[in-house]
Amino acid sequence: MTSRTTRTQVVIVGAGPAGLLLGELLRKVGIDAVILEQRSADYVLGRIRAGVLEQGTVQVLEHAGVAARLHAEGLTHEGVEIGFHGHRHRIALRELIGKTVTVYGQTEMTRDLMEARNASGAHSIYEAEDVTLHDWRGTTPRVTYRHLGVTHEISCDFIAGCDGFHGVCRRSIPADQMQTFERIYPFGWLGVLSDVPPPWKELIYANSARGFALASMRSPTRVRCYVQCGLDERVEDWSDARFWDEFRLRMGEEIADRTMPAPSIEKSIAPLRSFVVEPLRFGRLFLAGDAAHIVPPTGAKGLNLAVSDVFYLHEALRDYYREQRDEPLDRYTSRCLRRVWKAERFSWWMTRLLHLFPGDAFSRRIQQTELEYLFDSRFAQSSMAENYVGLPLDYEAHEARAHVA
Ligand code: FAD
Ligand code: PHB
Repeated sequence: MTSRTTRTQVVIVGAGPAGLLLGELLRKVGIDAVILEQRSADYVLGRIRAGVLEQGTVQVLEHAGVAARLHAEGLTHEGVEIGFHGHRHRIALRELIGKTVTVYGQTEMTRDLMEARNASGAHSIYEAEDVTLHDWRGTTPRVTYRHLGVTHEISCDFIAGCDGFHGVCRRSIPADQMQTFERIYPFGWLGVLSDVPPPWKELIYANSARGFALASMRSPTRVRCYVQCGLDERVEDWSDARFWDEFRLRMGEEIADRTMPAPSIEKSIAPLRSFVVEPLRFGRLFLAGDAAHIVPPTGAKGLNLAVSDVFYLHEALRDYYREQRDEPLDRYTSRCLRRVWKAERFSWWMTRLLHLFPGDAFSRRIQQTELEYLFDSRFAQSSMAENYVGLPLDYEAHEARAHVA
């Protein structure tokens, strides 16, 4: 087995949305990066995950030069609905706070980023095995991996850990050097993707006596729907017919009448979790996206947080190389965490508001009262809308700094 050594400025571990977008943002400011991904490109594209982009996320994708198809095919949504006891209440996002969200699948965003990277000739290695980090505490970190039976070593200035919740980067840090915060919920989401035109115009998040359900979409011809399920349930036990029966019961009569049970093209169960690690910088190693934090999907924040993290990280690295100062890198943790914790709070709040929890009658009444307050109060709706469309990313400040530089 031979061994090869190369050099780059930044090694990015993981080719999910965080890693690929960071690669594009760094390339735009003239910083070299190599991406190492343990899976194949097809595997990465086959994962069905998030679907709602905040306005700030769209701006970052525009800035990275990868928003052409998003603008052509993404669906602008001006509102979102909350179902309760079979009735639906609309939260008028644009009317309340002048902003909207864009429905565009994570798969499509990943495809756009992969195509941009391929077109630029930048270096990505898929099916990289045994990715191992070395010397990230000092100023000359290294990353080793195996590819097609050959061991490789890359020396670099920085390592970006964009390798998701189960990745190697966070696991490389001794437990006593970080603090973790975690909440595990006693249920999961069973999701189904089907090629059928959505019979709803906007997303519907439904709280029903049988548990939560979500009616979403990916395009004018494709729906994505979820039902809350037990943590011990198996996908094999959910036939398409059983899924649609349950979904219709939870959505209420009007939507049930319009919903055509269609064959699934994907079906999976995801557990729900809140998780944050602090800090996000360890010497020359930075954590970003799901490697650093997880939110339950109820607020549609996971992908959007991955985007804001790497936006901040590319700014910090750009300023470091321009000014040879450590200070921008030091600010990375606090800049990210301000946004992360607000999204954690909102996702936890939406999860608590909409799911069926094993609990006492008092908790159920409080949940009902919170929903009624939301439906009756324009202030409560504005607060939900402000968080749902995404809190500011500080993008305007970035534009101003870029003009001065
Ligand atoms: P990831 O997308 O996880 O990418 C990390 C990459 O690193 C992967 O490609 C992985 O293969 C690679 N990797 C891991 N370990 C290594 C290693 N040792 N070496 C090299 N590469 C490695 N968010 C929503 O907003 N709505 C949703 O409906 C939703 N559904 C989800 C369903 C599931 C099952 C999961 C897991 C997440 C879901 N999310 C959802 C969250 C959202 O998809 C994530 O927040 C987003 O994918 C984060 O992007 P990321 O790039 O940080 O991590
Ligand atoms: C999705 O379409 O997959 C989706 C939409 C909104 C969410 C979660 C998932 O909150």
